[in-house]
Amino acid sequence: MNLADVTLEELTVDPHAALAAARATGPITWLPALDGWVVTGRDAAVEVMRDTERFTVEDQRFTTGQILGPSMLSTDGPAHAHYRAPFTSWFSDRTELLRLTDWMTERARSLVADLEPHGRADLRSSMAAPLAAATVAHMLRLDPPGADALLQWYEEIVAGVHRLTAGLEVGESATHAHRDLSEAITAVSRSDPPALLVDAFRVLTTAEVVANAAVILFGGIETAEGATANAIWHLLTNPDALTAVRIDRSLVSTAVEESLRLEPAAASIDRYATTDAEFFGASIRAGDYVIVSLAGANRDPAVFADPDRFDLGRSNVRAHTTFAVGPHACLGIRLARAQAIVGIEAVLDGFDRIRLGDDAAGPLGLVFRKPGCLDTTWIPR
Ligand code: HEM
Repeated sequence: MNLADVTLEELTVDPHAALAAARATGPITWLPALDGWVVTGRDAAVEVMRDTERFTVEDQRFTTGQILGPSMLSTDGPAHAHYRAPFTSWFSDRTELLRLTDWMTERARSLVADLEPHGRADLRSSMAAPLAAATVAHMLRLDPPGADALLQWYEEIVAGVHRLTAGLEVGESATHAHRDLSEAITAVSRSDPPALLVDAFRVLTTAEVVANAAVILFGGIETAEGATANAIWHLLTNPDALTAVRIDRSLVSTAVEESLRLEPAAASIDRYATTDAEFFGASIRAGDYVIVSLAGANRDPAVFADPDRFDLGRSNVRAHTTFAVGPHACLGIRLARAQAIVGIEAVLDGFDRIRLGDDAAGPLGLVFRKPGCLDTTWIPR
């Protein structure tokens, strides 16, 4: 495969052959379609993510930060630590996680119970997506305005990010969506802040709390939706694995992990080189755009044997890079894992004889990868 011929369309629909071809030329390779270096070797990916002095997120091209304002996602060094620190204790609190897992279990069961009589649904849009959105709304006590409002604001802000990336104005809808979101977070936080925000209000300004709460909200919707939907997709396209998981429920978490490895819900993250450097054989220049392909690193054959295979017996599956590593490692790792697990459990318990329907389409997306349509059928009871 000639890397100069790889298109954005190909990277969106099925990037894995192109990523393997890029890796065959070296762990970090110039990819014209992305106008940047793509990192597909796991060791190189980990080093880029850890080395925030040489590879930073702080760049004007990172348009999300321009709309939401500075946050843990758009800063490095002391500023990043300042924004991130007040949220870490809540995300690592076992009691909070158990409480939230119970809540998510109830929610997933109720979504499945509502769908069950119909015998058919797109489980991404009618189960994984509402579960993810309702969860973050619940965490931040934003119900009301509720998951639907959050999703609408999210879509408008994402559209604004795309406009900025294309060199256009951010647009009124995105500005209004950000204003409404800020007001909702500020209002809920003023008198009795949700537990997740209590520490943040002690050390950050209201604008900083809002920006970082927005990062948590938006970091936790599309990714968690994709993780649950991709895992269901992988089980329904691997009947032996589905049978194994039905017999031994302890394999659900293994299936989630292997699905996270094969199709990371966030397939890549962006960095910008701060200095000229020789890096894993590539001559990088200050200012170059560096795309860490988590999808590529997760199929590095030097680390994962037979990397394209969905394999429940993989002993090193947790070596995947799906949640990133280093200072920007995902805050919601435990929550995301728990959500995908309860989502699958609810589907296994709630539907008889599930299989993919004719309209099903597998994971796609340039950055956020999830099934185009998780059309699923079952026999109503
Ligand atoms: C399976 C689902 C998820 C995946 C695949 C995922 C993936 C990631 C990745 C790759 C990053 C690193 C971004 C970067 O360095 O540029 C990240 C950061 C982050 N994630 Fe997640 N995430 C998931 C779920 C969640 C959830 C449920 C939450 C919270 C509710 C969350 C909150 C965050 C936050 C706040 C950051 C920024 C951390 C920082 O910059 O210091 N994520 N996530």
